[in-house]
Amino acid sequence: MTDRQTSTAPHGSADVVILGAGPAGLTLGNLLLAAGIDCVVLERADRAHVQTRARAGFLAANTVRVLDRHGLAEGLHRRGIPHGTCEFRTEVGRFRLDYGTLGRGEQHTVYPQQDLVTDLLTHYLAAGGRIHFETEALTVDDAAGARPTVTVRAADGRPGRWQARYVAGCDGRHGAARRSLPSTARRHHRDHGVSWLGLLAEAPPSLDAVGYALHGRGFAGHMARTAEVTRYYLQCERGAAPDAWSQERIWEELGLRMGAADHGPLRQGRIFQRSVIDLQSDVIEPLRHGSLLLAGDAASLPAPAAAKGANLAVLEAELLAEALIDDLSHGDPATLDRYSRRCLAHIWRAQEFSHWMIQLLHAPLGSDEESHFHASLRRSRIESLRTSRTHQDWFAENYVGI
Ligand code: APR
Repeated sequence: MTDRQTSTAPHGSADVVILGAGPAGLTLGNLLLAAGIDCVVLERADRAHVQTRARAGFLAANTVRVLDRHGLAEGLHRRGIPHGTCEFRTEVGRFRLDYGTLGRGEQHTVYPQQDLVTDLLTHYLAAGGRIHFETEALTVDDAAGARPTVTVRAADGRPGRWQARYVAGCDGRHGAARRSLPSTARRHHRDHGVSWLGLLAEAPPSLDAVGYALHGRGFAGHMARTAEVTRYYLQCERGAAPDAWSQERIWEELGLRMGAADHGPLRQGRIFQRSVIDLQSDVIEPLRHGSLLLAGDAASLPAPAAAKGANLAVLEAELLAEALIDDLSHGDPATLDRYSRRCLAHIWRAQEFSHWMIQLLHAPLGSDEESHFHASLRRSRIESLRTSRTHQDWFAENYVGI
């Protein structure tokens, strides 16, 4: 691995310039490189940040299949933890769904995103891939034509320009690709009006399942990350400050909502990461604007209620690689023309299920008739999930499926 491969570089060219070194950008880079496509990844952050940023960690069966297909799954097979059980806790009791045995019989693999990104990066560099860290994309210009350019700012502030045949916008929802979309692009946006305090605790998981607590005081969630680290969510006021809650108050509230008095205490530990997440969803349509193509969070943001983000990113990266290879290696633009439509089918399915989960997990606030009506619908929904095999199969298929 040479410095030429990774240091900031304001100028250059490639057939495919990939913006962003997250799951979408690095999966795409590996697949294009393996097909002999001339590509480069431009990443705003430095390497250490990219490899240590803790975010998602629930990989769907399809994601494992895609990574397996391309020889990128060694790390997750060695260190990933198979996962196939949810536990719903309500104020009247609890029930478990072994979703790995329901629906299509698929399960998740718990594998921290930073480990996946590190594996993808290591594989990409070992294969001779070009990536320039601390190179921030500012705009994508002339995307309507066949020679788009990306203007960048290097680590030392020098402006620069990268020439491309195609630009793959994998730089998230606040990246240069989204900022450079033509006015014809449609952005569907939904604010679900719910906020979560997202937490990472140095504590072993307290359940051998994803825990969803549906409580009158608000939602609480429990997701294993590793044998020593657990992700928790606590529904909180919109605009709450992440540091407004003391560690003691967080564990007390988690215990209350998770029903620790009835189901056993939670295993506590130092909370080392916290953030407030406003549950929002958005989708860009179409995902292709001439020579600019979107994938991952740049294409759509599902609310984090159903662990779809990273899984959509990998699925879209494979579809985009296939389309670019067909065009650049075989002169066949047909797959590229279908790219947006193929992805949007998966994206809207994920959005639909995320929306359903948000309705399930959160009690309607307020005491008016509308809220009572929705609260009754919610109780009926959870009861169907507890008792109906058909509902359980539907849940499992959509919970893991993508
Ligand atoms: N120029 C270059 N790089 C950029 C720019 C920019 N202007 N803006 C953002 N980036 C980089 C970020 O630093 C990040 O490394 O783009 C990358 C985007 O990666 P992710 O946010 O991980 O997005 P994506 O690959 O689409 O994966 C999406 O993974 O993070 C989870 O759950 C999350 O759903 C999400 C999924």
